[in-house]
Amino acid sequence: MAAVGSAVGLGNIWRFPYMAGEYGGSSFILVYILCIFLIGLPILCCEFLLGRHSKRNTVNAFKRFHREYATPAWWQIIGWMGMAAGVLILSFYSVIGGWVIHYMLQAISDSFASAGKEAVGTMFTELIQNPASLIVWHTLFMILVIVTLSFGVRNGIERVAKYFMPLLLLLMLTLIAYNIKNGGMSETLSFMFEFDASQISAQTILVALGQAFFSLSIGMGAMMVYGSYLGGSRPLIGTTLTVVIADTSIAILSGLAIFPILFVMAIEPTQGPGLIFTALPLAIGQIPGSAIFGTAFFFLLLIAAWTSAISLLEPLIAWCIENLTWSRVFTCWVCGSVVWLLGLVTVFSFNEWAHIKFFGKTLFGLLDFLTSNIMLPLGGLLIIVFAGWVLPRAVMRKEVGIQNNFAYKIWQIVVRYVCPLAVLLIFIEGIFG
Ligand code: PHE
Repeated sequence: MAAVGSAVGLGNIWRFPYMAGEYGGSSFILVYILCIFLIGLPILCCEFLLGRHSKRNTVNAFKRFHREYATPAWWQIIGWMGMAAGVLILSFYSVIGGWVIHYMLQAISDSFASAGKEAVGTMFTELIQNPASLIVWHTLFMILVIVTLSFGVRNGIERVAKYFMPLLLLLMLTLIAYNIKNGGMSETLSFMFEFDASQISAQTILVALGQAFFSLSIGMGAMMVYGSYLGGSRPLIGTTLTVVIADTSIAILSGLAIFPILFVMAIEPTQGPGLIFTALPLAIGQIPGSAIFGTAFFFLLLIAAWTSAISLLEPLIAWCIENLTWSRVFTCWVCGSVVWLLGLVTVFSFNEWAHIKFFGKTLFGLLDFLTSNIMLPLGGLLIIVFAGWVLPRAVMRKEVGIQNNFAYKIWQIVVRYVCPLAVLLIFIEGIFG
């Protein structure tokens, strides 16, 4: 359940719709789903098994494999790169988490009630153009993360995920029911699922792969850490499937909740990171009891973002505590402050530094591209190559828990050939193609 909490977050509800909107809807979604099952699922399972088998933080796990199985020591790089990716992702994740806090407070004061397209647009622009308020919300979100991490609330997260995720699901279903009544559903279904091969480019595939990694929290060791907390010898494949199915369903439902609103209101789905913050208030404002519904929705989204944010920093925290013998509280504040400081880059990239662009991307866009589309897939590639080729085969066989010989053979082919080659090809095509 903690792993579901890590996977389900802003990636599903904020990032998925705007990426799908920007990269052509159905073709993006089809590639995304293929990436989830062919690439994401095996890598997630390998992360769990490396974590559970080593019972260490990401860097020390590879040190332990080096000692026990004489695997080359340089595989530790997976751990280092993962910690760096976690810090960089959290630096912008926290700023967006801050937007969610702001919108929750707006909902409390019922600002969405009957708000029109213009009002909602202005609300968002005013927010992102004001660095001071972005910093306040970003700071609040980071304090929330630091304080919970410093309590080391492993069990707490599990309980929160168990009770709050189903509630979030319920509110999303309510929004979808509203959409069915309000219209825009048939356009949405064809936008999301009517597949057009001509829309697929190497870039779309790379971005869909990045979205799969981001959404499943894989490629940076977050799931390895959660794996290391897992006990027993339950087959990991079952745990993996639970996470994958929960995460993918929430992403698809989020599309069904957002896109109809855009079609009805004639809003372009290509407007980037502000997409859900302009679409959701429009729908929420129409629902009777908009203040209660809106507050509950953004509160639950905040909880989802928070359980994900915790897992982004946990690998670094675990490493610092185990290796530097710093106290937990001190570690959390030091690491959290570094992330907070880096977060200012994202804050300013929406206003003061909005004109600074590289490859046509703002600093935030660049940070997001670098982490999701490059660092996570690279980390995932190394993880699956390690698990498939370097780790003793008996360990893999025991941990995965696939009994049937034929099924296990297929699993091996996927882990050793299909998955690494697919990531490699997408990478080369997407970056150099
Ligand atoms: N999966 C999280 C989300 O969808 C984000 C995340 C990425 C968390 C990588 C941990 C590691 O919001």
